[in-house]
Amino acid sequence: MANLKWWQTAVFYQIYPRSFADGNGDGIGDFKGMIEKLDYLSDLGVHAVWLSPHFPSTNWDCGYDISDYTNVAPEYGSLEDFKTFLGEAHARNIRVILDLVLNHTSDEHPWFLESKSSRDNLKADWYIWVDTPPNNWQSCFDGPAWTYAPERDQYYYHYFMKQQPDLNWHNPEVKKAMWDAVRFWLDLGVDGYRLDAIGTIYEDPELTPHTVPLDLSGLRQAVEMAKTPAQKKRVWKYWQDMFKHQWGQPGLHELMKELRAVIDEYKGDRMLVGEDDNIAYMGDGNDELQLVFNFPLMLTERITPAHIRRNQKERLPQLDALPLRGWPCNTLGNHDNSRIHTRYGDKQHDAALARLHSALVLTLRGTPFLYNGEEIGMTDYMLTDISQVKDTMGAWYYHTMVTDMGVQPEEAMQRTAAMTRDKNRTPMQWSNHPHGGFSPPDVETWLPVNPNYKDGINVRDQRHNPSSLLNYYKHLLQVRKKSLALIEGEYLPLDKTARDYFAFLRKSERQTVLVILNFSDKKLELDFSRSKEIKGRDLQILFSSAERLKTSKSPRGLTVNPFEVFIAEVR
Ligand code: GLC
Repeated sequence: MANLKWWQTAVFYQIYPRSFADGNGDGIGDFKGMIEKLDYLSDLGVHAVWLSPHFPSTNWDCGYDISDYTNVAPEYGSLEDFKTFLGEAHARNIRVILDLVLNHTSDEHPWFLESKSSRDNLKADWYIWVDTPPNNWQSCFDGPAWTYAPERDQYYYHYFMKQQPDLNWHNPEVKKAMWDAVRFWLDLGVDGYRLDAIGTIYEDPELTPHTVPLDLSGLRQAVEMAKTPAQKKRVWKYWQDMFKHQWGQPGLHELMKELRAVIDEYKGDRMLVGEDDNIAYMGDGNDELQLVFNFPLMLTERITPAHIRRNQKERLPQLDALPLRGWPCNTLGNHDNSRIHTRYGDKQHDAALARLHSALVLTLRGTPFLYNGEEIGMTDYMLTDISQVKDTMGAWYYHTMVTDMGVQPEEAMQRTAAMTRDKNRTPMQWSNHPHGGFSPPDVETWLPVNPNYKDGINVRDQRHNPSSLLNYYKHLLQVRKKSLALIEGEYLPLDKTARDYFAFLRKSERQTVLVILNFSDKKLELDFSRSKEIKGRDLQILFSSAERLKTSKSPRGLTVNPFEVFIAEVR
């Protein structure tokens, strides 16, 4: 592989620890379960895992409120269990990156407990304290961004929930403490980090108020009400305006460089991927983050050929323009978003579309990130009772609707179920046994299991079915693994205007591969025989989601079936 690093050739798989595998049968995922499922991941054919937070947490934000950066949440196991997991993953050539939450800690982290205890303790300046709220800033999860702490008779700032106070990154002691935590896991051998919400680390030093005529609940309501593209655009502008002084502020590049220097102290190409789509955080291509996510690809209601082409046309040249060429990173799903199957489905062809979408992520130029459960077609699950809601930003919105907005509980629950991230975090469906085989039958799982595990949406049933989505993923991952062009090739779009299909080449020095994704329910007759790269050559089929009898085709008069994924080597 032409000088590529491991994180350029790898396919990543995000594990949401609470929902992945329950090894001790208490209704919550854990390391024992994850260790037992490593063979599954290896068999699936992924090469790296991104582990969402596994640290001790008060779980106001499902692990993203950390109360100890150098330990393991007791419900997930012990540090020894973590080490076993890491060792066993490495033994199977699976790399492991952790989630690093820099912006905030839990309000029960000893740093915060000390900081809030008085105005003159040793950590008094580790968080952002003011005498009175200086502006109308909102937290993006639960209303005003300034919360009163009687111990100091002062207010602290939090971009997320009030249980997630923002650290003061201008304080060198904060950096030192956090870099020590970063080194702790690197010393144990982890392969890098996914950096949580980096955009929120610094705030506007002028503390400029926002000018949106709404507060957070008003804005959430406006989001729900926006139906037309113009309304959606306006609401999106409101979001940006409301938070623009709390996002992407100066200082971040210097900080990312410092963090990069820390991870570069280690051998073995440890890596950083930022939860941000801003290519600027890749610095010169080699001095900040190795990767940022191509979120614009997923930020759409429908994945259409035009959308994909536009996205690639905008992004790839920006990466190419970095002094040291940058590398793309594509994903369509994670723990914060509606599941691919539900989000981009049309309710008629969801299964076929899900196959196209996964093929897209696995064939575009760049490192793919998959989210646990998408390989079996897990869908969003709508909770029906507020007592089930674990995503506290959802619970906050429910109570605000019922108490302050006079919404009837039933309606408030429906709206909450649709906006909360619980819907895409339900336990992994391992079999058609009760609870989808996630936990023993007599145990209550931390979130309900989506009952559609009974309808074939589970690993066990799909494993034995050659035409299942799971086997489709496995097959595609194998094809990708064996194809130099799919891993390192350039991206060359073929048809620049087609509305029904997206066709492109991936071209490396030694191999050229043609990918056609038919997004329509029509049979297409295509002819690529005049394209410069294909002219006079034949197509050797590497993969097709349709039943094809022949393994080679002429690029002239190529019939592509409805919703077909067609991948062929140009010979
Ligand atoms: C990131 C995480 C999200 C979390 C937030 C606050 O966006 O992906 O789950 O709630 O940061 O840590």
